[in-house]
Amino acid sequence: MLVGDSTNHSAQIFGAVAAGWLGWYTWKFFISPLLYRDEPKELPYLIPCKIRISLLDLSLYANNTLRKRFGNDPWAVTIMGESLYVIPSAEDVLAVYRAPKTLDFDPFIKEMLSKYGITAETASKMFDTLPGQTKNWMETMIENFKTQMHPGEKLDHVQTRLLGFIDHSLVWGRLHGRMVLEDGGNERVVSLYNWSEVVIVDAQTRAFFDDALYKECPDLLAQFQIYEDEAWKLPMDLPDFATKALRSSKINIESGLRRYLKLSRDERPNDSWLIDILCKDMDKLGLEEDQKVYVLFSFYRVMNANAYKLVFWIISYLLFHPQLMEELKVEIEPAFRDGNHSTPDLSFLFDSCPLLASICEEVLRLTNWPIGTRTVQTDTIIGGKKLRQGRKLLMPYRAMHFDPAVFGADATAFNPKRFIMKKTLVTHKSYRPFGGAAHYCPGRYIARREVQMFTAVMLMRFEITLLEGEGPGNRSHFPKMDDTLPSGGIQVPSKGEDLIVRVRPSKAV
Ligand code: HEM
Repeated sequence: MLVGDSTNHSAQIFGAVAAGWLGWYTWKFFISPLLYRDEPKELPYLIPCKIRISLLDLSLYANNTLRKRFGNDPWAVTIMGESLYVIPSAEDVLAVYRAPKTLDFDPFIKEMLSKYGITAETASKMFDTLPGQTKNWMETMIENFKTQMHPGEKLDHVQTRLLGFIDHSLVWGRLHGRMVLEDGGNERVVSLYNWSEVVIVDAQTRAFFDDALYKECPDLLAQFQIYEDEAWKLPMDLPDFATKALRSSKINIESGLRRYLKLSRDERPNDSWLIDILCKDMDKLGLEEDQKVYVLFSFYRVMNANAYKLVFWIISYLLFHPQLMEELKVEIEPAFRDGNHSTPDLSFLFDSCPLLASICEEVLRLTNWPIGTRTVQTDTIIGGKKLRQGRKLLMPYRAMHFDPAVFGADATAFNPKRFIMKKTLVTHKSYRPFGGAAHYCPGRYIARREVQMFTAVMLMRFEITLLEGEGPGNRSHFPKMDDTLPSGGIQVPSKGEDLIVRVRPSKAV
């Protein structure tokens, strides 16, 4: 072929592609919105099938450009070739909650469970309602979570155990193990992140399971931390070589859980009511051994994934606001009637310490990244827009948590007294740190109490200071949050952003 011919040919191809693209773009973003005015407008993108917008941008709907473009109306976005609806307004979120059948959460739970190894066959056993029954197995299980964790006798039982274990662990004599980086006798250098994780996950494990779990899985806490550190890879379907640590920690924990499930009930007498009924109900459902292990692990993870990260952030904020820390100590001190190393009076701590509650809530608001997901089962109108069957919708709660109309002009800043100044905020429809509706986190009561207990006890029993100077782990700046992907709960610090602290026992007074 002559050079001129080949140039002509390339120009023809380019022209055809450009014309095709222009036609697609004009149809998609100009003609189609005019024809389908009742449907959510789509955020324009240049290349079909490309990830037009990251989940990060999506969650930061507070981002002014998007707010200006769509206001409070539902809008659509294409991610990896899949068109999703985004529901930005708190009122429309309530409308979504009111339509649990047409806007269904189950497909999302099934997808999550499949990441743990739960097969389609098991999922259908869990989610199918049998003839003559009004609820499926999963709905009954969610009822059981609520029975155990909503206020009442059963919550009191696990909560007393949980808070008791925190009280027991947070003492100088037990500050040993992998969180201690240097031991200088009466002063230790400690990883705050590991310390938070060890104390909280251990207390939760002991509150819900019998101690026999540690005999069957002695490395449970260390393996769980590896799993959690690697868990961001879960939604990505990465190749095996990239998920070695994730898989090996999962296998290790599962082997322990498998041995635990083989014990007779008499060999694990301190199982909570919830674990006992979960195990019995899995037997009744006729699940295979591996499938039971995966269900149990998925529960272990959901109960343990957030609270320890939250206490890490709370203590970090306090360390960077020393005056606030002193003010808080003055507030909580009366709870420690028999001295600062004594067990606190819990009713004083939970009912008479508004600053403690407000700080915990404010840090929860700033570091939490929950997203609600639903699948549209039949065409539905939300916010005056028609949502089409088969598509997914997202409710980016974090964006609501930064709405200046609700949280004030300083919504992006840390304001420790925000929840004291405006008491209605904690129950405001724009504040959804634990999600909402039928799947509203049942652990929210116990979670709030354990983080308050941890914070108060840690402040009273230890003198904690930031490590000065240069070098790895030494911090002169506040730890950076890993905001590359929303976790669905409390975000982790970025790699290398742990806070390394110097710890001494506080003088007994
Ligand atoms: C700071 C700590 C915690 C945070 C921020 C948190 C947050 C959340 C969020 C955002 C959801 C999803 C709700 C939705 O989709 O609408 C959830 C679900 C859940 N959480 Fe929590 N959670 C925490 C602690 C706990 C604890 C301590 C437990 C148990 C001991 C727990 C048990 C559960 C369970 C079982 C679900 C699933 C509920 C369902 O699907 O019906 N959570 N949590």
